[in-house]
Amino acid sequence: MLASCIRAASVRTLVARFCCALVLVVSVGLGSELRVRVRLSDGLVTEEVLEADSERDSISLEFKQGDGTLITFLADFKQEVKIFRALILGELERGQNQYQALCFILRLSRNEIIPSESMARLRQKNPQAIRLAEERRGLEQLTMTTVANLSRAWQLSSHIRNMCSEAQEAIYTRDADVKYWLEKGVDGSIFEALPQTTEVSSFQACHATKDLWQPCLCMYSVRLEWYPCLLKYCRSRDATGKGSTYKCGIKSCSKGYNFTYYVPQKQLCLWDEET
Ligand SMILES: *[C@@H]1O[C@H](CO)[C@@H](O)[C@H](O)[C@H]1NC(C)=O
Ligand SMILES: *[C@@H]1O[C@H](CO)[C@@H](O)[C@H](O)[C@H]1NC(C)=O
Repeated sequence: MLASCIRAASVRTLVARFCCALVLVVSVGLGSELRVRVRLSDGLVTEEVLEADSERDSISLEFKQGDGTLITFLADFKQEVKIFRALILGELERGQNQYQALCFILRLSRNEIIPSESMARLRQKNPQAIRLAEERRGLEQLTMTTVANLSRAWQLSSHIRNMCSEAQEAIYTRDADVKYWLEKGVDGSIFEALPQTTEVSSFQACHATKDLWQPCLCMYSVRLEWYPCLLKYCRSRDATGKGSTYKCGIKSCSKGYNFTYYVPQKQLCLWDEET
């Protein structure tokens, strides 16, 4: 890390002052994995692993929460799809599986996260530093109204099969995004509207439902505490005094997502309980 940082600094002297943060190095062909220490909302420090795949044009980000849940986020730039996966530890004494997998698939907008080729060149000088996002964004409310069929969803993104195979029937998306994908020519047979979506308001929230076998509206919140959301540009001057700008670092963001979706039984949503 240090070596590549110095290398970057010698290439462009102005990079030096960014060296203590995160820099984009000019060289290519280095490893594309970055491990960053991040403080979560509950104060716990976790290690987040960011990986860039320039060939498949994707970025993934993964970390473990304090409760043991493994959160994975993937941005598929080729297909303009983003995938959230939560592997939630089950409560064996309540007859649950070892873990429960959830997948949420949404449209990836432009400029939500830095390009994969920039991510692949991101290095940090001090890997021990605990990172805090420069911009804390709010909680986006997302009503998930549709399920995606795992064995057909490869058409939407080749990453879904890998990431969501354990989620089986718990791969959720929403109408607005489905509409967009259908217009782009994606096969509609991937999607199935949750039967009760039109009457969503007639269901109670799971945390207010007593009976474990009753259908209800489940809520799941996740926050990406730290991700590179924007590129920073620096100015340089050559020997003749001519100025130019180049990508030299990133801005980091934090953003929350609150997913609401129908479950046929409260049993499938046991984390959503009032405490
Ligand atoms: C998903 O698609 C597969 C293959 O087309 C089909 O056999 C299966 O029944 C579908 N699953 C559901 C839940 O509709
Ligand atoms: C998440 O969404 C649900 C349902 O829309 C809402 O009741 C809840 O207050 C939201 N949670 C937060 C923290 O905003």
